[in-house]
Amino acid sequence: MSRIAYVNGEYLPESEAKISVFDRGFLFADGVYEVTPIVNGKLVDYPAHMERLERSLSELKMAWPCTKDALKTMHEELIVRNTLKEGIIYMQITRGIADRMFNFPKEIKSSLVAFPQVMSLVDNPNARTGVKVVTTPDIRWLRRDIKSVMLLAPVLGKQEAYEKGAAEAWMVEDGFVTEGTSSNAYIVKGNKVITRPLSNRILAGCTRRALFRLSKEHGVDVEERLFTPEEAYAADEAFLTSASQFVMPIVEIDGHRIGGGQVGPVVRKLRELFLEEAQG
Ligand code: PDD
Repeated sequence: MSRIAYVNGEYLPESEAKISVFDRGFLFADGVYEVTPIVNGKLVDYPAHMERLERSLSELKMAWPCTKDALKTMHEELIVRNTLKEGIIYMQITRGIADRMFNFPKEIKSSLVAFPQVMSLVDNPNARTGVKVVTTPDIRWLRRDIKSVMLLAPVLGKQEAYEKGAAEAWMVEDGFVTEGTSSNAYIVKGNKVITRPLSNRILAGCTRRALFRLSKEHGVDVEERLFTPEEAYAADEAFLTSASQFVMPIVEIDGHRIGGGQVGPVVRKLRELFLEEAQG
């Protein structure tokens, strides 16, 4: 069955879902996006994603394409029209369509496209075994706090990981891990979770934020500080978070087994807590 996508006001079969070659997202990566998870046909953590979207748009001086209510209705309509039970909705806003010029064109209207992707989020088999990660230099720009569609560095990093038999690449800058190509990065020492503090060097993950809240509620310590790949190799546990992976255990980093190659108790508990809430 073909998906139904949303393109600038219309719900269309995917074969008809097309954008202009003059769209600034296509020409300049002049756009932002969000990926919102769906579990049991319901949006997970939607307000956090919209809060971040608002910030991304404002940092790039980009206008909302529609009202916030209309954007929520569009997400819900895509779930219904695609009978989506579990997966994600990808949504992208670009500055709009105009002749190719670098500066912002005047009187331009933002473009909005969105589509669903079916995925197994809750019963993801990778979560049972854990995944492998490799490290790679962080070659991205310095506004990683903006969820921009300019994703060539993450594409190259993820491809490198796949070619090395890993599921994710942790990017390294000045000797410290920044984050994954499409996820936030964590290690565990004893019962303490360690992750990099928020700054322009990483994206403020919505899953990260939920994880912080759940950890606090359930007495798991979280320390925000930098860590090196070498410290990660010697960690008791490691994991990543994202809207499409939730809390995903890591059992190997650059060929070093973490926690004897087994999924550890802290990450198992955090994943369970997250799933409980998502299944709500
Ligand atoms: N990526 N860091 C980066 C660089 C990301 O691209 C993502 C998400 C995250 C985690 O953020 P969140 O928990 O809000 O998903 C961290 C999405 C899933 C993607 O590009 O597909």
